[in-house]
Order: sequence, then C-alpha cells, then structure tokens
Amino acid sequence: MSTDFQHRSVLLDATVELLAPRPGGRYLDGTLGGGGHSELLLQRSAPDGFVLGLDRDLSALDAARARLAPFGSRFEARQGRASQLAELAADQGPFDGMLLDLGVSSPQLDRAERGFSFQQDGPVDMRMDPSQGASAAELLDELDEDELVDILSQLGEEPRARRIARAVLAGRPWTSTLALADCVARASGYHGSRTHPATRTFQALRMAVNEEPQELLAALDAAESLLGPGGRLAIISFHSLEDRVVKHRFRALCGLDAPRDPYGNPLPPPGWALLTRRGVSGADADPDNPRARSARLRVIQRLSVT
Ligand SMILES: C[S@@+](CC[C@H](N)C(=O)[O-])C[C@H]1O[C@@H](n2cnc3c(N)ncnc32)[C@H](O)[C@@H]1O
Repeated sequence: MSTDFQHRSVLLDATVELLAPRPGGRYLDGTLGGGGHSELLLQRSAPDGFVLGLDRDLSALDAARARLAPFGSRFEARQGRASQLAELAADQGPFDGMLLDLGVSSPQLDRAERGFSFQQDGPVDMRMDPSQGASAAELLDELDEDELVDILSQLGEEPRARRIARAVLAGRPWTSTLALADCVARASGYHGSRTHPATRTFQALRMAVNEEPQELLAALDAAESLLGPGGRLAIISFHSLEDRVVKHRFRALCGLDAPRDPYGNPLPPPGWALLTRRGVSGADADPDNPRARSARLRVIQRLSVT
C-alpha cells in the first residue's frame, strides 16, 4: 500500500466468495475503507469486472484510490454517505453485488486526532467525515440527561447508562478523549474487566454522531433498487442491534416471516433468497483476526425471475 492506511479486512474470503464475482460483473462497495474487499473483488472479476467504491471519509478514499490504481478504469471511488447510495451509484448500476462492511476502520480508531480513541488523547470528535455535522463534543453540549441515557443504553447497551450520563453532562464541555474516558471509567465503577470501561460509551457516541442506525436503514432501501436480477447483497455488522436490523430485513425480503397473507393464502414468491441462514460468524470464519471477533456476515440474492 502506498499510504499508511492499515486496515485488516474482516471476513475477506468468506464475503467475496459469497458475492461470487465473475468477469464482467459490476460491484458496489458502499463502505470502501482501505479497499481490501474491493481489491479482492477486482482480482476475482478480472479481466473486466468493475467496482464502484463509496466512503464518507476522504482519507479512506485517498488510501483506496492509491491501492487500487493498478486496476485503472475498472475501479472508481466517490465520496458520500451510504444513505445516499441510490443517487450516488444509480448511473453505474444495476450491480451484480453490493457490500456494506459497517462501522469504523482501524485508522479512524487509531489516529488520535480523529477523536475516536479512549487510549490516545485527541479532540472529542468521532466524525467519519469531519466536514459534516456535529462532533461528539458538540452533541454532548446539546443533549439532556434522558437523551444521553437513551443513546448509551440503546447504541452502547451500557447497563450503567444513567450514572455515566450524569457524570459526563456535569463535566461538559469536553475537549479531550482521555479526560472523557477517565470520567466514564470513574462514574461506571467498573473494575478489572477485560475491556476498557469506556468502550460502550465511546461506541454509542460514535454511532450517534455518525447516525449509523439511520444510515443502515437508508442503505438497505437503496440496495434493493441498485441490485439487478441475481445480484447479491452482503452486510458485515459488528453490533447486535445492527445485526438484528439486517437479519429482520433479510428475512422479510426472503418471505420468511409471513409466508401467508392474513387469510392464510400463500403469498407470491419472494424476490430474494437467503444465502446465509444463520449468518457467518467472524469468530468462526476469520479466527486469527481480532477485529472479526464480533462480526457477522449475512448475504441475500435477488432472484433472477420473480
Ligand atoms: C470497516 S471499514 C471498511 C473496510 C473495508 N471493507 C476494507 O476491507 O478495507 C468501514 C468504512 O466505511 C465507512 N463508512 C461507515 N459508515 C458509512 C456510511 N454510512 N457511509 C459511507 N461510508 C461509511 C467508514 O468511513 C470506513 O472507512
């Protein structure tokens, strides 16, 4: 790689195998990151497969463009949010496969100045695209206690949300991630656990700042309009809430939740088929990759004739 953007792709082989790239195929990577999945898609769709990559983070786009330059016009990268996929990618569709590898990349977490880290000091920012929207510090300035409790419990699944929220709001304004992490650690009263006591709080704030739940729902809608007959949609999630959203949407599209109408008549055949019944667990399929521990991959395919 020609930049210092180091991200180890999660479930790389399993994902690309299930997307089944072929020569001449057209693929959409809605969360390009360092371009690891896109690179393998380009290799496996040689000599003339095409990948359009999208990311909201300019530094990821720069890194992926440099890495994938050898593929020439077979690869194109655009900046944008997954929720804008329908508009940003329509001119290149329909696609034979689409990938969403949700969450953050290692460089976003590791570069202190991006403000995602509770281990290195930086501004309390956490925006994947620092030119858009409110930073985590600005969000914290605006929230009341109940709103912060909701964010911490729903997006962080933090059982001690109330006492953490109180302490965090009392300590505003926040300018240092280490100071914020220290406040959370003291307020939570967690001692001796394997994970840092601020892990769940930082995850919840990051998801709220980047509107990740809303982004996922909008990206799922867009995917349905962008995939052609036989097209496959693969989603890797790292959070149980996101995985539940993906699982339910996939089951609904595949007609698995209500195969009969309210009068008991069979419904028309669904337009999609589930390719991963229980999902593929990162711990099982990518055991040597620490980033894959909480990952789950789910894949569906649009049927050719419905
Ligand atoms: C886990 S990384 C992807 C890594 C990539 N698959 C690879 O192998 O290098 C996720 C990337 O998606 C981007 N991202 C996350 N949510 C996004 C969204 N809603 N819209 C656009 N990009 C998003 C992040 O900026 C990050 O670069």
